Amino acid sequence: MMNNNNRNTGNRGGKRVTEYKLRKRYSRVLISAVSFAAILFIAIVALSIATFGKGGGERASQTEAPVPAETDVIPADTDNLGDEIMENTTPVSQTDNPETTAPETTAPETTAPPETTAPPETTAPPETTQAVQNYTSTSSKGYPIEQIDGVTYVNGILIANKSYSLPSSYGTGLTGEMKAALNKMYQAAASEGISLQTRSGFRPYSTQQTLYNKYCNRDGKALADTYSARPGYSEHQTGLAVDINSLETSFGQTPEGIWLATNCHKYGFIIRYPQGKESITGYQYEPWHVRYLGVETATAVYNSGLCLEEYLGIDSYYHD
Ligand code: DAL
Ligand code: ZN
Repeated sequence: MMNNNNRNTGNRGGKRVTEYKLRKRYSRVLISAVSFAAILFIAIVALSIATFGKGGGERASQTEAPVPAETDVIPADTDNLGDEIMENTTPVSQTDNPETTAPETTAPETTAPPETTAPPETTAPPETTQAVQNYTSTSSKGYPIEQIDGVTYVNGILIANKSYSLPSSYGTGLTGEMKAALNKMYQAAASEGISLQTRSGFRPYSTQQTLYNKYCNRDGKALADTYSARPGYSEHQTGLAVDINSLETSFGQTPEGIWLATNCHKYGFIIRYPQGKESITGYQYEPWHVRYLGVETATAVYNSGLCLEEYLGIDSYYHD
């Protein structure tokens, strides 16, 4: 009964038991909820700490440690690189060789002028070449002496004597003007009963070389030099000289020799190696050898009574 009462009471007592059980259940639920909440909070906190701590660490390490390191390294490297450059260039050039460094710094300016002066250098060779090929001096009589392509002209007159030679390749024959004047003279002489004939006209270098060598073998070089020109020095190579009739000194005393000496200038010729001028012309008297100069010059030389060397103010001797 008691139990029933209790149970009844229990009704009253039953309510108390029920309230107690409910409270106990609520407490368990509450504890469980609190525990769950605590666990959940802890878990969240732990996760947050783990997450926050990891990211911040990396950022901190990236933003704090590397940046200062890089900024420190870069300036350091830059400074070091600058120092190395300064050490490699400055001390040696500027400190030890100030004069040397000045040209180095002004090198562009120094090298520029040569580049701009390149044209004068290109024009220099032509001037030098002209100076060699067209060397000009003055004779003792004030006439210009020009050497063009190895040929000498004194006051415009081609000269071949012991002082002035010709290139071995020079000459191809008597000049047309000279041949015309020679024929005119021959005809004029003939009209007066004087017979003039060419014994020797143009002689190339090779022919003169043969003759000179023959005379040297026969009479010796010293004597041969008084009557025969060395190859390259003969007026016969000019194409402006001929030997007429006889190659004997006595020819000068013959009517033909006298006519030639008296009249040849009228046709532009002179007796090139006159008697009494041997020391000046360098050759013995040759009354048969005439040289064409043109009427005007030949007449002037004839009237002067001078040999051509005297008239022009030049010499004639071998310079070797
Ligand atoms: N007899 C003259 C000088 C000559 O050989 O050209
Ligand atoms: Zn001659």
